[in-house]
Parts: sequence; structure tokens; C-alpha cells
Amino acid sequence: MDKLIIQGGPKICGEIRISGSKNSGLPILAATLLANGPMNICNLPHLNDITTMLALLRCMGVGITINENMAVEVDPTTLTDHEAPYELVKTMRASILVLGPTLAKFGKADVSFPGGCAIGSRPVDIHLRGLEAMGAEIEVDGGYIRARAPNGLKGTHFVMDVVTVGGTENLLMAATLAEGTTILENAAREPEVVDLAECLVAMGAKITGIGSNRLEIEGVKALNGCTYTVMPDRIETGTYLVAAAATGGSIKLRDTRADILTAVIHKLEEAGAEISVEGDTISLEMHGKRPKAVNLRTAPYPAFPTDMQAQFTAMNAVAIGTSAVTETIFENRLIQVHELNRMGANITLEGNTALITGVERLTGAPVMATDLRASASLVIAAMTAEGETLVDRIYHIDRGYECIEEKLQQLGVNIRRVPG
Ligand code: EPZ
Repeated sequence: MDKLIIQGGPKICGEIRISGSKNSGLPILAATLLANGPMNICNLPHLNDITTMLALLRCMGVGITINENMAVEVDPTTLTDHEAPYELVKTMRASILVLGPTLAKFGKADVSFPGGCAIGSRPVDIHLRGLEAMGAEIEVDGGYIRARAPNGLKGTHFVMDVVTVGGTENLLMAATLAEGTTILENAAREPEVVDLAECLVAMGAKITGIGSNRLEIEGVKALNGCTYTVMPDRIETGTYLVAAAATGGSIKLRDTRADILTAVIHKLEEAGAEISVEGDTISLEMHGKRPKAVNLRTAPYPAFPTDMQAQFTAMNAVAIGTSAVTETIFENRLIQVHELNRMGANITLEGNTALITGVERLTGAPVMATDLRASASLVIAAMTAEGETLVDRIYHIDRGYECIEEKLQQLGVNIRRVPG
């Protein structure tokens, strides 16, 4: 397994481009299954998770080509199989997102039941109950979700018990081709859900309430192919901003958006960062200062995003003062604390809260990544540490950060990849 070796010390300084959003590109690629013709998806990031989703579509018989502008052309009209196999689903839970569109378009879908992962059990009960409310017959057999709707799906009024991004996305996609009107209450409002909804509208779907927690979808007979550009990755943006703040440096991020990161930007300003926004560019300046510790509590959008929690925990580990970081979305998403403590951090866990006393500097050490955002927090910690850090199992990081060592080298970080 590849490893990253990072020599701590330099303050981040420089400018990079932000890639397209992984968590928007994945549902949008799944949505292509709904179309009656080819689609062009632009600004997809070159990430392992995107490659896995393309492999899944290919193994269902969908035509995939990459054109000269690195846009992905998807032709769902050649689909031959309605199954998302275990071998692919086990590597990426987001494969579950093909369930709703495949069932809605073809009346049947067999998707391997996604297991949990390091951050939690991550059930899909709401996905399944919502599809059953639309008239689907669903059984779980041999580790597979087998969903049938031979007479098509029917509109329904469904209240989600928990705010679920994937659940909202699956049910939203299914509802676009259902007969009649569907109302989804307590829907997720994440920008990635909005991006998916806007792509579906561009395909001819009739959706109102986009961006709110109440989506109303009037089913249509068919959806057309279209060309759609995926939004910038707000979590990649936030991660590089936090890395600059943690190292007391400065950074300029191009091709991104600030309006979908308000909670994160406010927390960075609270930590002492000077942030300025000009169009699609965000700049952050620390003037060489250590960040101040900030308290945070994760919650569904527009509150502070769980996908930025691990990165801020790393920043708080070297900040001035003490802080409390509470994770309310996933039951095991503070696991990076143990590796940070091995680097000299002073963090104690009390239930779903990490109590952090900032130290002047961490110490480089061999550490192990456990999930995507925890990996990012270890890389941030390594940049601030004295000496060398070896981050193992970085396949996690390759799932969500495009060309991470090249981008960090551009920012003055002494980092290299060692093939494992
Ligand atoms: C999406 O995961 C993201 N992944 C995650 O990003 C992100 O952390 C998460 O949303 C929360 O924002 C993608 O978009 C591909 P959820 P998802 O369903 O949809 C519970 C990353 O780092 N729940 O919103 O799987 C669940 O247990 C990844 O890029 C149910 O109880 O998350 C959790 O506690 C990690 N039943 C909460 O809802 C269900 O049927 C939120 O999960 C579904 C979810």
C-alpha cells in the first residue's frame, strides 16, 4: 500500500485549483441511468471513488467514454444489467446511489447491501423504506437488496426520520420518474443534493423546494440526456483552508465557491484567519500566527459539516487554547484522535466529544489512515509537526483528494509518495 512521507515545518504558501466535487459527481453519475440518451458530465475529479462509480456503470453495460476535455460521456441506452455487484459496492458505499435510478427506470434493481465503514454502521433503512413507500417490493437476500417495481413507482409523501444525504438523493432520483407527485420531508439540504437536483431539472425533471428540507417532485414520463458541470468540491476547499490555518500560512484557492462553506469560513475567522473572496477565488492569510482553538459541533447543512470535523480537530491540536469538538452525525468519527495523540496531541474523548488542549508543535511519527477525512487530518497534523511523518494506508485519501501530493508540493509542503 502506498504511503505518504511528510517533513513538517513549512507554512503553507501558494495557489491551487479546486477540483470538482466527489460527493456531487457520484450521485450525478448515478442519475445518468435515468436518461433516455447520452449525457456529458464535466469537471468530475480524477479520484478512485469516481473511477469506481464509472466501473460500476460500465459493468451494468452503460457506455462510458472520456473525451478530449476530460469530460465523461455516459450512454445509458446500452444498459444490460440491473445489478451492482458486491466486488464494487464493498469498495465504495456510494454505489447504493444506483438503486433508486435503476429501479425507477427499469422496474428492478439488485444492489449489494453496503456494509458499514470505519466511521459508523451507516444503515440504508431510510433509502429502502422510502422506495417501499413509492410502491417498490424490496427483500434482502444473500447480501443483496433486491428491489422490484414491475408497474413503476408511485408518488408518495415521505418523512425521513434522519437527515440523510444519500437517502434524499436516492429517493429524489427515484421520484423523478414515479407516477404522480412525491413530497420528501426532512430532506438533506447539502449543496451536493442541490447540484444533483439542478442536474435532474436540466434533464427535464420537475422539482420544487430545491435547497430546502421539503422537496416536491412531479413525476415525468422520461428524462433526456444533457451536459452538466459538477460544482466545486467544498470539502477539498475547506481542507486546504484548514491546512493553511494550522500551519500559520496563506493560500489562494481558484475555481471554488465560498457561499456553500459559510459555517467553515466563520470558524476559520474565529480561529484568527483573514479570509477574502473574489468571485470563484478564496484567499486565507494567517500572517504567520498560530490559530486560536475553536469549539464546533457537526450537524446537517447549513450547520458545520461532519466532513470537516477531522481537519479542524487537527488544527485545534496545535491551536492556542482548549476546545471541544462534538460529532453528532456518525458514531465513530473521532477515531483520528488516537493517531493525533501518538503525534503528541493532548486530546481526550468523552462520548462523542473530543476535548483538545492545543500544543505548540506535534512530533512526526508513523501513523495509519482509517477513513478519508481522518487521513486528511493526519496529513495536516504532519505538516505542523517537528520531523518526519509516514502516513500509511493512503488509499483512503486517494478516494477523495485529487493529486494531493502535487497540490501540497505546489504549496511548499515537503511531501512524497512511497509506493507500497
Ligand atoms: C454522505 O454520506 C457523504 N458521502 C459523506 O461524505 C458525508 O459525511 C455524509 O453524507 C453526511 O454529510 C457522499 O455523499 C458520497 P447520510 P451518506 O446518509 O449519504 C444515518 C466523505 O467523507 N442514516 O447523510 O452515507 C447515518 O447512519 C463522506 O466524503 C440512517 O440512519 O450519509 C448517519 O448517522 C463520508 N439511515 C446519518 O444518517 C439511512 O437510511 C447521515 O448519513 C441513511 C442514513
